[in-house]
Amino acid sequence: MPDKLNIAIFASGNGSNFRAIHEAISGGKIRNAQIALVISNNSDAGALEIARGFKIPAVHISRTQYKSDDEFNATLIGALAKHHINFIALAGYMKKIDASIVGAFRNRIMNIHPALLPKFGGDGMYGMKVHEAVLAAKEKLSGATVHIVDDQYDHGIIVLQKTVTVEPSDTAETLAARVLKIEHEIYPEAIRLFAEGKIKIEDGKVIISQ
Ligand code: GRF
Repeated sequence: MPDKLNIAIFASGNGSNFRAIHEAISGGKIRNAQIALVISNNSDAGALEIARGFKIPAVHISRTQYKSDDEFNATLIGALAKHHINFIALAGYMKKIDASIVGAFRNRIMNIHPALLPKFGGDGMYGMKVHEAVLAAKEKLSGATVHIVDDQYDHGIIVLQKTVTVEPSDTAETLAARVLKIEHEIYPEAIRLFAEGKIKIEDGKVIISQ
């Protein structure tokens, strides 16, 4: 078993994926991990409130509080170091992760995206826009993707994907709700596999052993 995962969650919004990961840990599905820190760029994020309820350290760190990108990123890195973080899970975090952080946590940052990457990802593809684009393209399938984070939006190596059928009656909202349900399945599962040392990244490819 590898070293215990000391996870930092980065979230800007409701925090339902954070909650799902937390439940998987507290319910014993993910054994070799704990959530040690929640960071949000949004002081009103539901994720911060959930974290406080669970007595998990929760901090609001926003670019607007700092004079430069460097100062902002150094503050993030300082917080991660203070809490001995060795894995980052982006869960609805609306800011791009700086290359300095990607470099310090190479292959140890995951993100969840509410579509089947590489389709419907990239800059500007977030929230309902993703589901609206899926419907506009008349896709028969959508889904969710967990991927390793590199220095481009929604670009890193894919770890897990699960599909949902797009129904003719779907609106962006109904599709989003169905996709979110499977996000809550595959994100904890991807973290479990990582925590158990079952995910290896070699030559830009993911090898998963069950
Ligand atoms: C999810 O749909 C996720 O895929 C996207 O942002 C949303 C976050 O939802 N990146 P929540 O804050 O986890 O409820």
